[in-house]
Amino acid sequence: MVLHFSSPDNPKRSTSQDGSTSVELVATDLIAQLNAKNAERKSRSMMSQSTTPAEADQENSLRPQSLADYIGQGDLKTHLAISLEASLARHEPLDHALFYGPPGLGKTSLAMVIAEEMKAKIHFTSAPALERPRDVVGLLMNLDEGDILFIDEIHRLNSVTEEILYPAMEDASIDRTVGKGASARTLRVPLPKFTLIGATTKAGALSSPLRDRFGLIFRLNYYSPEELQAIILRSAQILNVQVDDASALVLGKRSRGTPRIANRLLRRVRDVAEVLCKREGIEAMVNDVMVAEALRIYQVDELGLEPSDRLMLSTMRDFFQGGPVGLEAVASTMGEDVRTLEDVTEPFLLQSGLIQRTPRGRQLTPKAYEHLGWFQP
Ligand SMILES: Nc1ncnc2c1ncn2[C@@H]1O[C@H](COP(=O)(O)OP(=O)(O)OP(=O)(O)O)[C@@H](O)[C@H]1O
Ligand SMILES: [Mg+2]
Repeated sequence: MVLHFSSPDNPKRSTSQDGSTSVELVATDLIAQLNAKNAERKSRSMMSQSTTPAEADQENSLRPQSLADYIGQGDLKTHLAISLEASLARHEPLDHALFYGPPGLGKTSLAMVIAEEMKAKIHFTSAPALERPRDVVGLLMNLDEGDILFIDEIHRLNSVTEEILYPAMEDASIDRTVGKGASARTLRVPLPKFTLIGATTKAGALSSPLRDRFGLIFRLNYYSPEELQAIILRSAQILNVQVDDASALVLGKRSRGTPRIANRLLRRVRDVAEVLCKREGIEAMVNDVMVAEALRIYQVDELGLEPSDRLMLSTMRDFFQGGPVGLEAVASTMGEDVRTLEDVTEPFLLQSGLIQRTPRGRQLTPKAYEHLGWFQP
């Protein structure tokens, strides 16, 4: 069966070429249905790196359960597998490990995989939750031998908390002050041997004394389209939706090298497939037609750019002659928060070579003009 869709701006696509069953759908009608289906998601960017509580639940269900399930990051996995095997053989906890890299590449997932492989209990926290010294002391005192303490956004630890962590990481002990005034003394309290796993998107913001106390430091890299294809096919199985290989590869190519975005795109395409296939009375399946329609509705282009990315590029061209221009100026012209632009929008545009940083500000590259079909002055 071939499904054809028409939209107000593309009315010709409504008839089938090969005589097979065709349905004519108006895209606006479909968009209204999808919006009603998921009003909460609608307000958020497809490529956003933040996750809502509902999405966090969905993410958990898609997380790899073992190192074998964890797709890509070949070198990292090889090194980690050796360290895991050696620690297991010595019946010792794994060395403290730091994972750094852009959002959504699998740092938290990796920490959970390690816990699974080591058969260890994992305690989750993040640096902003460790504001007072007693927060981290409480957590450390509650650890059992071999436990894992996962600290997300570890670059945001305050200096007092960091200093409590130094002896904990180095000698499995903490210094506690007993008594008051002149009789106050410091007692070194032993802790069970544990593994600290830190995750950060900003390795450069980590203090060097803290960084130096990690025995294992791993950088996560962006994934290839083929790796993302494999992740999408695996997620599709868990979500119980049929996806063909070619469609998974198309989605992989538009996922900005990021598994979180790949899974999110898959869920959006599944929505489209469910709505359209239900109308036809057939089981939902993701194929090239569904993918093309979903990408068109959500306006994700071949490079994975979405409307907010294109708005940044066109603002730079229309208001600043393509740059060089400061990010603040672009942000205020767009009515966007400068940190969102810096943390979410800009990194991918830089990485894909559409803008470049110069000493005088950001500048559009010839590739940006070419990609968007603009005349280059
Ligand atoms: N290598 C992988 N194989 C399969 N799925 C993956 C992989 N890496 C990440 N994922 C999926 O991508 C989603 C996001 O991964 P994760 O939460 O681990 O990223 P993160 O690096 O911790 O992101 P953040 O910096 O925002 O905390 C998860 O739902 C997970 O299922
Ligand atoms: Mg994480």
